Amino acid sequence: MLIVAGSASSKLAERVAKQLKCELTKPELRRFPDGELYARIPADVEGEDVAIIQSTCYPPNQNFMELFLLLDAVRDIGAKKVTAIVPYFAYARQDKRFKEGEAVSLQTVVKLIESVGTDKVYTVDMHAHRIGDIQKIFKIPAQNLTAAPLLAKYLTDNYQLEDPVIIGPDEEAERWAKGAGEFLDADWDYMIKKRLGPEEVEIKPRKLEVEGRDAMVIDDIISTGGTMVEAIKILKKHGARKIYAACIHAVLAGDALKKVRKAGAEDIFATDTIERNISKVSVAPLIADAIH
Ligand code: R5P
Repeated sequence: MLIVAGSASSKLAERVAKQLKCELTKPELRRFPDGELYARIPADVEGEDVAIIQSTCYPPNQNFMELFLLLDAVRDIGAKKVTAIVPYFAYARQDKRFKEGEAVSLQTVVKLIESVGTDKVYTVDMHAHRIGDIQKIFKIPAQNLTAAPLLAKYLTDNYQLEDPVIIGPDEEAERWAKGAGEFLDADWDYMIKKRLGPEEVEIKPRKLEVEGRDAMVIDDIISTGGTMVEAIKILKKHGARKIYAACIHAVLAGDALKKVRKAGAEDIFATDTIERNISKVSVAPLIADAIH
């Protein structure tokens, strides 16, 4: 197998290739003066199984375009099997027409991935609450891997925890809280969130018993940090001891990280689906296992 490292996932691709002991290639990428992208695969892919790893984090349009060019190129120059690994899958939130006339963006990018001849797709914890099984939106085989247990492992490997409890900051985070809680054999719960604006949320606890306990708040995304900050505030109010903030995808818009730190998180950590300085947990073993 040959791994192609998209520019948004170069470190992760290296880690996956190392784990699988397989060849890694970095495409030649240039931007023309008019903004168009040039891509070239400097490797012989004829008859090979090729996996392209490219997150579609900021800037999503550019990163998607790079992915499409790479997928199409490897198929065109003779790869036997083409796998797209999109650790962070942008546009997943526009999975339906909320208002008449809207583009269903997720459907569009799915069609584009399929139309360039991709054989299989993997992603990690796609924001697919309404969809459930992502196979429903793809005609080709598609798998949504979960990194929640890896975040739980990082927590327990690095901290001596006092009666830990795992909390999802909203209903949609129930599955990550459950995944991490079950991995640690710890209690877990989730809270109820109402979004008041793009950066403002109101969070209400369900049945929180966190007094004197260490808590990890786990979410799929920290974007503006509003959700995480509110969750930390509530846990503090209810007497939690140390609070750890964890997410799969560190989107981190604006000064999100500063806000979460200021709210009193003992540590903030994420995976490398988006390569950030808080990406302390690699999803490479998860991806390597899946595509092996
Ligand atoms: C929402 O459904 C997501 O799971 C996250 O809770 C959300 O994207 C976090 O956004 P923010 O950091 O802006 O509150």
